[in-house]
Amino acid sequence: MSAPNIETIVSLSKRRGFVFPASEIYGGLGSSWDYGPLGVELANNIKKSWWRWLVYERDDIEGIDSSIIQNRLVWKYSGHEQTFHDPLVDCRTCKGRFRLDKLLDVQCVDHPEVHPGENKDCSLTEAREFNLMFRTTMGAVSSDDDPAALAYLRPETAQGIFINFANVLNTSRRKLPFGIAQIGKAFRNEVTPGNFIFRTREFEQMEMEYFCRAEDAPRLHQEWIDGFQAWLQSLGISAANMSLYEQSAEELAHYAERTVDIMYRFFPEREDESKQWDELMGIANRTDYDLRVHSKKPEDAEGKRINPDSTEDLSYFDPQTSERFYPYVIEPAIGVNRTLLAVMMDAYTEKTNEKGEVRVILKLKPEMAPIKVAVLPLAKNNDEIVTMAKKIKHELQSSMRTVYDDTGGIGKLYARQDEIGTPFCVTVDHESLDDHAVTVRDRDTWVQERVDVDSLSEYLGSRLR
Ligand code: GAP
Repeated sequence: MSAPNIETIVSLSKRRGFVFPASEIYGGLGSSWDYGPLGVELANNIKKSWWRWLVYERDDIEGIDSSIIQNRLVWKYSGHEQTFHDPLVDCRTCKGRFRLDKLLDVQCVDHPEVHPGENKDCSLTEAREFNLMFRTTMGAVSSDDDPAALAYLRPETAQGIFINFANVLNTSRRKLPFGIAQIGKAFRNEVTPGNFIFRTREFEQMEMEYFCRAEDAPRLHQEWIDGFQAWLQSLGISAANMSLYEQSAEELAHYAERTVDIMYRFFPEREDESKQWDELMGIANRTDYDLRVHSKKPEDAEGKRINPDSTEDLSYFDPQTSERFYPYVIEPAIGVNRTLLAVMMDAYTEKTNEKGEVRVILKLKPEMAPIKVAVLPLAKNNDEIVTMAKKIKHELQSSMRTVYDDTGGIGKLYARQDEIGTPFCVTVDHESLDDHAVTVRDRDTWVQERVDVDSLSEYLGSRLR
């Protein structure tokens, strides 16, 4: 089983401290979300898994962390100033503002039973292009619209990698094929954000640019599509809730030759199966577009430099063949937030206890679980039990994320840990004082086992692995 809809995860997140509406005490801020004590741990676990898999466990990928605000010329030559637009329409009657290409995904403001444009009163304007980049000004400027001070918040982390291609190549002495990975915030002034953390204006991306020879690009593209499906499954996302989508020529971004999206079943409640899916990540063959457009050398048909502002040539010299060329790039790009949502939706299960009550269990993989172990005293008024439980918590916490909780009866405490995905609860009871053993309860089976305190850390460590 997985979550029946996103709303179920919204309420679990708020109730237990994964994700809260941002600026809530001031009425919120359209589609902005804050990550609470458990949400930040889950997001960090996803990022750590991605980084470990790509940067540490492979031999051919380096990591970087580039600036959110770059020289405006980066966005001029990347094409974002010219083309990073959504087509926008307004309704003169209901005053709604919609993306022309997403009309079927939203409702008319006055008549929510129909899509915009489908009611006789709807009066949509002609579409106009709306640039999605957030604008800001750099430094102490005389006026807010001083063009010399105009800067953008990055709409993707990828460009920070392309403009550092030569820096990384020269300092790490890499040979093709190799990749550069980066995790960081990106910002898009989305026309219709929504569906909780699925589409927001501020989000976090994990992007990797894998540089290779043009002739190797199609094969490597397929390898990364397969590789990412396997990695997503390792996070606990079931294959049945993932599918592949090949972008059509009309849908491809201006830089891409081929893009395959990995889709997740974010909307299982929709009757029409084809509408249940939406993009979790994209894997693009960006050709040599980016390295060329940021290079000082390439010329157009009339012999004029395509980029007269760049001071660097981002071509690659192959010492074995003595060729100089612009490498192709395979780009797997995924959002941390959408991954977190998919991981939570897939882990969501319900189980009926012996009293006939329905309990929520978040069956997260141990690697993903925000808390690995909860130590619970059976009697919070018994000093000896409390002291022993706190001592066990302190002993475990250096090797695994452990919490101590005595804020309710044992049944309530177990239910709370099940709901937030804690794989193991350790209970200290009256017998523990005599036999120096504790009860370890498994989240998924609710089976309890007695374990000696001296071997507890090793026991839990091996079961968490
Ligand atoms: N560099 C390529 C690129 O940015 P993208 O498909 O626009 O490609 C990559 O973005 C991923 O970033 C998406 O698949 C999604 O997971 C995430 N993403 C994009 N826009 C988002 C938004 N507004 N809110 C949340 N996540 C978003």
